[in-house]
Formats: sequence, structure tokens, C-alpha cells
Amino acid sequence: MAVVPTVQSDFQVEAAWTPAEIAELGESVSRAPSVHNSRPWTLTLHHRTAVLRENPAPLMNHDPQGRDRRISVGAALMNLVLGVRGLGWSAQVEVGATSDLVSAVVHAANPAELSPREAAWARAIPQRHSHREPFTGRPVSEPLREKIWDAASGTRCGGRWINSDAEAVAVARMLGSAANAFHANSDYTRELTGWVTPEGRRLQTESGGLRGLAAVGLTAMTTHLPDEHRLARLLREESVLLVGTRGDRAADHVRAGRAVERAWLEATSTGLSVSMMTQPLHLPEIRTGLAERLGTSMIPQVIMRFGYAAES
Ligand SMILES: Cc1cc2nc3c(=O)[nH]c(=O)nc-3n(C[C@H](O)[C@H](O)[C@H](O)COP(=O)(O)O)c2cc1C
Repeated sequence: MAVVPTVQSDFQVEAAWTPAEIAELGESVSRAPSVHNSRPWTLTLHHRTAVLRENPAPLMNHDPQGRDRRISVGAALMNLVLGVRGLGWSAQVEVGATSDLVSAVVHAANPAELSPREAAWARAIPQRHSHREPFTGRPVSEPLREKIWDAASGTRCGGRWINSDAEAVAVARMLGSAANAFHANSDYTRELTGWVTPEGRRLQTESGGLRGLAAVGLTAMTTHLPDEHRLARLLREESVLLVGTRGDRAADHVRAGRAVERAWLEATSTGLSVSMMTQPLHLPEIRTGLAERLGTSMIPQVIMRFGYAAES
């Protein structure tokens, strides 16, 4: 089947959807969060079907197993589903994996109304962004935390809040040790220093200025790492959610990405600011250590922080 490329390199089109629908779906997908904003996917549209395929990516030291790529595809898939739903269709999703690369097919099978919750998530897509700066001290209310937790919950995946001082201390110790390991790994930091995209360079500059919890999720050569006491305090002051999955295969990473995007959009729709990190969770000992200390059988895939941004 011939594929006609358009001006966007991550976006290919093959007939049937109207041009306005194509533009809308492409826009929704391109606004998803992705590792280093690399958008490691290709979107192909034909008839009433949308196919999202993972692209191989070059971040060998940062993401050797492709976990982040697949989580990124999951987040983009969530936006694609919301886009299809927003056009008035039901969205049947099939996720598959071949030669280590995942792909997802979304069938717009039948006309179907958007639910109010989906509509709120869809409206939040253009507003969603990473907020890595510290939050104001205003706590996130319990009902809101409940809504975010609920949004992250799905088949074989879900969220786990960091709840107590003891948990914060244990998690701070793990995140601190992961950040120190990355800091000391010259191959790793060299790769980050060589970030080739303008966004990668922006992130690298930003990592040098980070002082809060986000610094342990964007550790490069110049990052100032907070000590463990401060990390533990921040983990208590901010609302921190671990998103995990029951399994650790390609489809689980896609599930984690969908869960993250739902939680992020839910939070954005209620005026909260968010950032996420996976960097510490690339180390298998941190994944198992966190699961053990938090007494969860889920495999930690993403750490998300929620709070209120200072008024600018
Ligand atoms: C799989 C994945 C991993 C990410 N890992 C990190 C991370 O470890 N630290 C961080 O600060 N941001 C991380 N991000 C956030 C991206 O850097 C961010 O989404 C991207 O730069 C686009 O910016 P935006 O979220 O403001 O649209 C990650 C995003 C994804 C989807």
C-alpha cells in the first residue's frame, strides 16, 4: 500500500480521513510527551484506521532497552484515541510487537459520543506540558489525588502514591543513588551532552538549573543533585505517583505510557502542573528496590510529580 508523506516527518497519510480530521489527529499525537521530545513514532492513517508505529531511536546509553520509546508511543496512543473519540467515533485499540518494535492500530469502528471525562482530557492536550520547577507549597487535595489515581488505573497497570515519611526516605535514598550513578557515568553524560535536537539541547541547559526533585530525573554532567534529606522532604511535600505495570514486556510499557498520559491530562484539566521521570527507573536495581520498599507487586515504570505552579 503506497504511503504519501506529508510535511511532518512523524506523520504519514493515506486517504479516507478528511484533511481537517487528519490535521487534528496529527496535532493530538504530536502533542504527547516523549523521551527527550524525540516523538519516536510514525502515524499512518487510512480509511477509518490509524496506525502508530514505534521508530527505532538512537539513545543507546540513555534508553538501551527502548523502554522510554514504548512509553512515549503509549502516551501518543492515548492522545490518538482521544483524537479519534473527539471526531465522534468509538476507538478499538490493538497493540502488537514485532522485531522489538511496537505498533498500535486504532479502528474508528462506530459513531460514538465522547464522555465528559474524555472531553476534559482532550481539551487538556494542548495545555499539557512538563513543569520541572518546584511547586508552591499548596497541597493537592485528597479528592483530586483520587481522580488522578483513578485516571492512571487500567488493565494490568496503575498508580501508587508515596504516602508516608518512611516511604519518602526510602524512595529518596534510591533516587539519590540512581542520580549519583548517572552523574558518574561518563558515556551516559557524554551522550546527553551530545543531544542532537534543539529540544535535547534545551533540556540539557535546563538540567543544569534544576534544584528540586526533577533534578534526579534529568541528571546530566552539570546537574546539581539535592541531598537525600531534601529529596525526602520534597517527596513528602509534592504529590508523587509511581506508575507501574504487572508485567515488563513491550505491551506493558505502552500501557504505562497510556496511564501516564491519562493521569497527566486529568491533572492538567484541574489546573495542576506535572512532570515525569523515568531516568532512575532505567536501572533494574532501582525498579526492584522501589517495588520492594513500597510493598507493591507492580513494576515501577514512571515517576510523576503533581503540584501547583507559582503564578508567573
Ligand atoms: C518515556 C518518557 C520519559 C521521560 N523521561 C523524563 C525524565 O527522566 N526526566 C524529565 O525531566 N522528563 C522526562 N520526560 C518528559 C519529556 O522530556 C517531555 O515530555 C518532552 O521534553 C516534551 O516536553 P513537554 O512535556 O513539555 O511537552 C519523559 C517523557 C517520556 C514520554
